[in-house]
Amino acid sequence: MHHFTYRDGVLHAEDVSLSAIAEASGTPFYCYSSATLVRHYQVFADAFSNTDTLVCYAIKSNSNLAILRMLGQFGAGMDIVSEGELRRARAAGIPAERVVFSGVGKTRAEIAHALEEGIFAFNVESEAELHAISEVATAKGATARIAFRINPDVDAQTHAKISTGRAENKFGEPWQEAPRLYALARDLPGIEAAGVHMHIGSQITRLEPFANAFTLLAKLVGNLRAEGHNIEFVNVGGGLGIPYHGEGELPPSQEDYAALVREKLGGLGCRLVFEPGRMISGNAGVLVASVIYNKETNAKRFLIVDAAMNDLIRPTLYDAHQDILPVNEALLAEPRIAQDVVGPVCESSDFLAKGRELPLMAPGELFAVMTAGAYGAVQANDYNSRLRVPEVLVKGSEWALIRPRQTYDEMLGAERFAPWS
Ligand code: LLP
Repeated sequence: MHHFTYRDGVLHAEDVSLSAIAEASGTPFYCYSSATLVRHYQVFADAFSNTDTLVCYAIKSNSNLAILRMLGQFGAGMDIVSEGELRRARAAGIPAERVVFSGVGKTRAEIAHALEEGIFAFNVESEAELHAISEVATAKGATARIAFRINPDVDAQTHAKISTGRAENKFGEPWQEAPRLYALARDLPGIEAAGVHMHIGSQITRLEPFANAFTLLAKLVGNLRAEGHNIEFVNVGGGLGIPYHGEGELPPSQEDYAALVREKLGGLGCRLVFEPGRMISGNAGVLVASVIYNKETNAKRFLIVDAAMNDLIRPTLYDAHQDILPVNEALLAEPRIAQDVVGPVCESSDFLAKGRELPLMAPGELFAVMTAGAYGAVQANDYNSRLRVPEVLVKGSEWALIRPRQTYDEMLGAERFAPWS
């Protein structure tokens, strides 16, 4: 469900026409719908309304401060993976006690900063990290609440680049190591091992991998408790997939996912922590771009557009499909022709879609790449010295620039000549 629909023949974000925003801000730009974001957060939170839960939105999926503040106002906590993300959460007004810290390479400086802020918990990914946290906490006279990230070695049945719960992935510690690690943690100063964490991957479109992981998680909590560990919370990570094909197969609903969590973990009497990212921000955003040229060769027809892999890298990096809709609805009635939608970046890997059946679109015609709210703007860069594109937030009939377009002065001003040059 999202709030990008045609009205009077023009694609709108809530009550605002995307062509009006394009006229004011130029293209390309990211556009987010407040109503969609909040709805997704609330449906998820409501599914667990009678349970002690902490829903920590995965900042990495879309870290714009305006988005974080809005979710925070509805009670969301945050899942962070760097000091930068913690600073974003705090700048957006998120209380530190609603923050969990994931990631395999937290530095001592980052650990110290998170302890000073007083975050809820660290998701510990290795024995070496456990020792580092213990040392930093002890030096500060603090106690770090932790959950080991346990790698269950289950197949998340998703793209290899976003699968994290197999034994060969860098994430977490093998589940077989859990008894030894929790025993070690109990003996270390400055550590309170109060939880267990698992995150098996992203864009997971079937319940079965979750069911396998949760079954193991419940068993693990039972075993750890039998050994005298006080496990107060389980963190099941994120990963629930969303529909990228408008007419394609639907991933499990939040309600079905919630029912599975309750079935497998509800009886543990633990606080439930979640780290959803894409499920909240994914279809709350689109990337609006315009056509520069049409080009037809012996082999193919290309639609050359002003957005590129540096603005949205998902198709290039994960072979991701994202729907493309013309902003002008009348074009939908036109015959469709297979086209490669490509940007100006000098790489053959620069494309937004390959062989996509689309109506012919003339130079200047606007279109929207759908489902671009998660892992879109956050993965953008200025490769080929292309400016970072703006981000716009819509709420009802209002819209605001929540990140202006980078300027050439900003781009050039960020660098220095060496003193000897
Ligand atoms: N928790 C942890 C520890 C994670 O590593 C991630 C995502 C999440 C939660 C949130 O997962 P989500 O609910 O969004 O699936 N750039 C890729 C996705 C990378 C996911 C990284 N970790 C993409 O565009 O598909």
